[in-house]
Amino acid sequence: MIGTGYVGLTTGLGYAALGHRVVCVDKDTDKIAKLDFGQAPFYEPGLEEILKTLQENGQIIFTTDLSSVIESANVLMITVQTSPKTDGRADLSHVEAVAEEIGDLLNHEALVVLKSTVPVGTNRRVLQIIRDRLSQKGKVDLAELIHIASVPEFLREGSAISDFLSPDRVVIGADDEVVFRTVEEMHRGIKSVFLRTRIESAEFIKVASNAFLATKISFINEISNIVDGTGADIREIARGIGLDKRIAPYFLNAGIGFGGSCFPKDVAALKSYAGIIGYDFRLLKSVIEVNNFQRELFFKKIISRLGSLKNRKIGVWGLAFKPNTDDVRESAAIDIVQRLIGAGADVSVYDPQAMQTASRVLPEKVVFAPTPIDAASGVEALLVLTEWPEFRCVSFDTLKFCMIDPIIFDGRNALADINLSQLGFEYIGIGLCDSRK
Ligand code: UGA
Repeated sequence: MIGTGYVGLTTGLGYAALGHRVVCVDKDTDKIAKLDFGQAPFYEPGLEEILKTLQENGQIIFTTDLSSVIESANVLMITVQTSPKTDGRADLSHVEAVAEEIGDLLNHEALVVLKSTVPVGTNRRVLQIIRDRLSQKGKVDLAELIHIASVPEFLREGSAISDFLSPDRVVIGADDEVVFRTVEEMHRGIKSVFLRTRIESAEFIKVASNAFLATKISFINEISNIVDGTGADIREIARGIGLDKRIAPYFLNAGIGFGGSCFPKDVAALKSYAGIIGYDFRLLKSVIEVNNFQRELFFKKIISRLGSLKNRKIGVWGLAFKPNTDDVRESAAIDIVQRLIGAGADVSVYDPQAMQTASRVLPEKVVFAPTPIDAASGVEALLVLTEWPEFRCVSFDTLKFCMIDPIIFDGRNALADINLSQLGFEYIGIGLCDSRK
């Protein structure tokens, strides 16, 4: 595995758990040193335990030096980052640099698998770079023996290992029977649908999947915006439409919108790719617009209820872009906290895992509280921005007692089924039957 970020590490552990011998390579010496000691560089449920077990069994090792391990590799998997450039296009410089390095170092036949999320055409380009480098080094015969497969990953942060071991499908984009069989063999032990496709189709399947899921979220969010005040409830609506098998019940939770390192990036990249070939992808433009608007609308709701936020004390529960992760990249929660600070509010925050990662991006003025109750003490309103299950387990009597005004704005409808109004709170959610106050 070349690249030991989120995808590289979790996928590497997945292949090791299937019985393969995995070497994870990364240029980041600190990260590799930590991993060597069994420390995960980010929070993911169950990851450190699996890491320790597989390390003890010798199934997985870590190194910064590709040249020292490339000789023994049958498969070289590229899992480096493809962060977005300012115009939304994916930055392929890391992928290309790895391709060059492989071409320079490789002396034997190997299969290259590209797992990084990339725009259509990248796999063939990577293969060409490797072959060109091999030829330049005088290894012309070897160049023809190198093949590539696009095997996109569909795992979610927070449930990555189980997603790897029980995927809805394994997509294999290749143009050679032996390559298809090799990749299928690598997944032996996984029960799933194995879909063989053209390389370009596999590249599209990955980004189109994310774009479609993001579209579902923006759709339900728009419905939630017109539900307020009608007496209808977005949760009932989502359930009702989700029971139609053609729609399915997933990704219909209304809220302050999607974030993370994937959806915002992949939707922007697909829209940008369409623009480059002269196609105006209007639907995706709206998906992005609606997603940004959700945050703005939520913020406006707060202002319209509380008035000026200057020197007002606001508590926040949840900073991660979703529960079960410490990742705050493109997190709607971070955006809301920044808006609160921008409006002059005094903000205290709590997140079960993302305090450290959030502290790197939030202004110094933000107070990081040790417990949910501490974050809510003395505040004039509490915002729930990530639906961590543990927020449902606090003592709501204690919570009410410690807040100056018991007003809760729930950006994820995380507490909607707890009858907070009856407990004396003013509760404002997203598209709930009584959410217009
Ligand atoms: C997403 C995809 O779900 C994975 O299949 C894919 O492999 C991954 O991106 C990737 O490309 O690497 P992830 O970013 O971990 O996974 O998170 P999701 O669970 O998809 O959630 C993304 C965002 O959508 C979160 O901010 C979440 O709060 C939001 N969301 C999700 C909603 O607002 N409503 C929903 O109903 C579901």
